[in-house]
Amino acid sequence: MLLSYLAPMKVAVIGAGTMGLGIAQIAAQNGYKTILFDVNETALAKAKNTILSSWQKLQEKGKLSAEIVTVAIENIDFTSQFSEVVADFIIEAIVEKLEVKQKLFLDLEAQNESTAIFASNTSSLSITQIGSVLTHKDRFIGLHFFNPATLMQLVEVIAGAESSNEALGTAAAFAKACNKTTVQCADSPGFIVNRVARPFYTESLLLAEEQVGSITEIDDLLEASGFKLGPFRLMDLIGNDINFAVTQSLFEAFYFPARFRPSRLQGQKVAAKHLGKKTGRGFYQY
Ligand code: NAI
Repeated sequence: MLLSYLAPMKVAVIGAGTMGLGIAQIAAQNGYKTILFDVNETALAKAKNTILSSWQKLQEKGKLSAEIVTVAIENIDFTSQFSEVVADFIIEAIVEKLEVKQKLFLDLEAQNESTAIFASNTSSLSITQIGSVLTHKDRFIGLHFFNPATLMQLVEVIAGAESSNEALGTAAAFAKACNKTTVQCADSPGFIVNRVARPFYTESLLLAEEQVGSITEIDDLLEASGFKLGPFRLMDLIGNDINFAVTQSLFEAFYFPARFRPSRLQGQKVAAKHLGKKTGRGFYQY
């Protein structure tokens, strides 16, 4: 893997959860000065451990050189001080709630240069709607990484109604410099992948609710048929809160078609805080 030593752009990632930590890791190991910010100190400390131990493992396996790991460690800063989030390119990966994201971007716009570009990693919310509160709507786009961000190749680059070609180009160039394959798509609920993937989750949840098969049986069967992960193992990896919010968002955005109806079973998991791997319990125990 080559380092883009010349990349002058400073990157900030907001939210050190499942997605944010992976995005910050690939940015730093591909030569970008990177700030990882989270309001939650515990999440930030956990993210730091995860990233550092991942780099150590990659070095031990010979996938990253000692030189790249040293530079990557120098490149990344972890902070819970919002005033330190000043960068050229800012990627948000926080909770999947419209108003929370809008408030964050307003605060970010207020303390960053008028040339800064802002991206949301949202899985399902409208890029046009999130950006509608901003002064510089042209510099706001969607940049949708997949889980785990360090390994998954695809990144969707999403054009909101007012996104400029320059902002889209900067985001695509960043993703490519991180060795990703980009696909540009229009701002439509769930974009491409999450819309196509929705029935994989919703039908599997219905199968479990109707007791057609147990959760383990459904997972094992679909894995045996070629899927890398069964739907329940995948929902536990994604986080049930995030996956449920995405289904709810598509259901509303398409005016409530039965094919996107959220599952009560998954709603119960969220209410019980059985969110998956990140909380130690979801459909499975970890
Ligand atoms: P997560 O729940 O693992 O992490 C979210 C983090 O954001 C937490 O550490 C939380 O403390 C922090 N946070 C919440 N509000 C904040 C704020 N106002 N300022 C700073 N930090 C804040 O969430 P996850 O799974 O990483 O998802 C983040 C975003 O990425 C969501 O929009 C989700 O739809 C999207 N996404 C998630 C994928 C997944 O498989 N989990 C895949 C692709 C996109």
